[in-house]
This record gives sequence, C-alpha cells and structure tokens, in this order.
Amino acid sequence: MNQIVLIGFMGAGKTTVGNLLAEKLNSQQYDFDQLIVEKIGMSIADYFEQYGDVAFREIETTVLAEVDALDGILSTGGGIVLKAENRELLKKMANVVYLKADLTELIQRVTQDEENIRPLADSKTPQEIEAIYRPRVPLYEESAQIIIETTGKTPQEIVTEILKQVGE
Ligand code: S3P
Repeated sequence: MNQIVLIGFMGAGKTTVGNLLAEKLNSQQYDFDQLIVEKIGMSIADYFEQYGDVAFREIETTVLAEVDALDGILSTGGGIVLKAENRELLKKMANVVYLKADLTELIQRVTQDEENIRPLADSKTPQEIEAIYRPRVPLYEESAQIIIETTGKTPQEIVTEILKQVGE
C-alpha cells in the first residue's frame, strides 16, 4: 500500500482520519486545504471572497496533479469531485476511500467547527448545506473504490476499517 486517498463532504473527517492513518502507517499525510493555503498565501475563506470558487477549483486540480504520484495519505477537500477532470484522475488512483456520513452529522460537525471556516458552509442554513451535499453524493460514490460508513464511529474505528479494506 503506497497511497490512500480520502474523499468526502466537509466534516467527514478526512483530515483527522488522514492524520491517524499516517501515524499508524508511519507515512506522510498530504492535506489539500493545507497545501492550498501554502500555495495561495491566504485563508481559503479569503481566497473564495477575492477570487471566487472557479479559481479555487483550478488550484485544487493543480494540487491533485502534483500529489498524484506521491506515497502517503491524501486528504482531499470536499469539492475535489466536482470537476470531471479530477474524478477521472481519482479513478486511476489506488485506494480511494469515500468517508460517508449522515447529512445531519455532517451539518452538525461543519457548523460547530470554529477553527475551520468553510466559505461554502459558513452562515448557511441546513437546507442550503443539503443543496450542496445532495448532488455531490453520486460523484463521491463513482470516484471511490471503497466506501466507509462513518456515522457514529470514532476516528480510530474508521481507521481500523480502512486498514482492513485496503489489506493492511
Ligand atoms: C470545500 C471543502 C473544504 C475546502 C473549501 C471547499 C468544498 O475542505 O476545500 O472550503 O467545496 O466542499 P474540507 O472538505 O476539508 O472542509
């Protein structure tokens, strides 16, 4: 196992689970949001405000292409599956894991996360977040080889399940 790619909606636990996986496998974690922030030199919220989502998606694609061949745990951003180009790339990668969770739990996690301001979810109603979530579900499903149901599970339990599925 050289690479595990985590995909899923905002609040699915991609960063937390990615960290734990990297620790457990003694491997490197590449967190997309962090890599993007380093690239743009400002917060994602500020970037969205100044340059908009289309520009952000371009950077996301660049980062995906850059880390494509690296060994390690890739924790993507929730919108990575929006571009067909990204989905095609993901389909060619090994061990793409969709961290699936109940929408209610995702909304709770996203709205309670004060450290991570997500421009698409900030100050949004549950209905507005649901409208972003629904059309993405089939995109996560078609891009992943492994689907892990995470609702009600601890990050540690999720890691154990992922390792079982990828044969570690
Ligand atoms: C986004 C998810 C965020 C971040 C940006 C856009 C999205 O990452 O990339 O705010 O469109 O779902 P997380 O999924 O890590 O919160």
